[in-house]
Amino acid sequence: MIYLDNAATTLRKPPQVEAAVLEALRSCANPGRGGHAAAARAEEKVYGTRRLAARLFGLEPEQICFTANATEGLNIALRTLVKPGTRVVISGLEHNAVTRTLAGLGVEPVVAAAPLFDAAAWTEAFAEALRPGAAACVCLQVSNVFGAVLPVAELGALCAARGVPLVVDASQSAGLLPVRPADWGAAFVAMPGHKGLLGPQGTGLLLCLEQPAPLRFGGTGSRSEDRRMPEELPDRLEAGTLNVPGIAGLGAGLRWLLARDPSALRRNETALLRRAARGLEGLGARVWTGPGQTGVLSFRLPGRDCETAASAYAARGIALRAGLHCAPLAHRTGGTLPEGTLRLSVSPLTRESEIEGFLSVSEALIRKK
Ligand code: ALA
Repeated sequence: MIYLDNAATTLRKPPQVEAAVLEALRSCANPGRGGHAAAARAEEKVYGTRRLAARLFGLEPEQICFTANATEGLNIALRTLVKPGTRVVISGLEHNAVTRTLAGLGVEPVVAAAPLFDAAAWTEAFAEALRPGAAACVCLQVSNVFGAVLPVAELGALCAARGVPLVVDASQSAGLLPVRPADWGAAFVAMPGHKGLLGPQGTGLLLCLEQPAPLRFGGTGSRSEDRRMPEELPDRLEAGTLNVPGIAGLGAGLRWLLARDPSALRRNETALLRRAARGLEGLGARVWTGPGQTGVLSFRLPGRDCETAASAYAARGIALRAGLHCAPLAHRTGGTLPEGTLRLSVSPLTRESEIEGFLSVSEALIRKK
């Protein structure tokens, strides 16, 4: 199979990730829940991953909280900051993880929107929408549909000037672009562990620069005599037994990334995307592409609807994702409703030969039409 659905999850991981999961399964007990060697080993693994994430994102280990996925992190951040009826500004590219959470909170957000790949226009749109007193501003760093990069550093400055807490969804950028929450002045940054960070599914991180309200309540292995959740991070957010094998695997993914030159990885991924975009355009496909595009490419084949085309690709061994990608708002902003698009997404482990294989199949599908 040629796997080009890395924006959903990076299926191919470095071998160290699988080895770390297995090793933790075989040797780790419950961290913080016992003085024996197997519990201590689990504690070391969990803290080791926290430290690696702290290094990658320029924070203290205690500011790194483990979640099940980016959605859980976004739920925590938004439920901390947003009350029904408050003003919340979001980008027009946000995922349902943001829009449904806000709907659940009874909030109709103000949507800032601009042409997909025009960073200056996005900054302007946010400058217009943001007002002092807003409960939060939510923005992804890279669109999971179009690979457009939004100007989060500039947005951080706008939010700081207006005293608005900034929440960044780094689901498609973590592991690909620098994620610098302290420089941005962000309150929270959420991300999955299983995409660009190359860890297993069921892992995620919430980077906390503000005090969060817990979403889960229960045992933490600390302050057990207190009936309230501890104030201290990360315990405040980590009630219940942690996903130690997953966290150990995530640690191996982080170690793999930290041992490499991020700009070389980025150059490689950009080159793969450009090759795919040029090849598809040459075949007469409609392609959504622009400056700074990262990791993700949306396209449509002439004369074929996206779902049927994705099935035809799958039948020929190519894994893509079609439709709305859980982000109808992004498709509204991109003008690609109601059908959505076909989406190709790469990872640090994608090879040039796979893009060539994908283009050969695309050519065959277009000719066969
Ligand atoms: N949000 C993920 C995607 O874009 C799952 O496919």
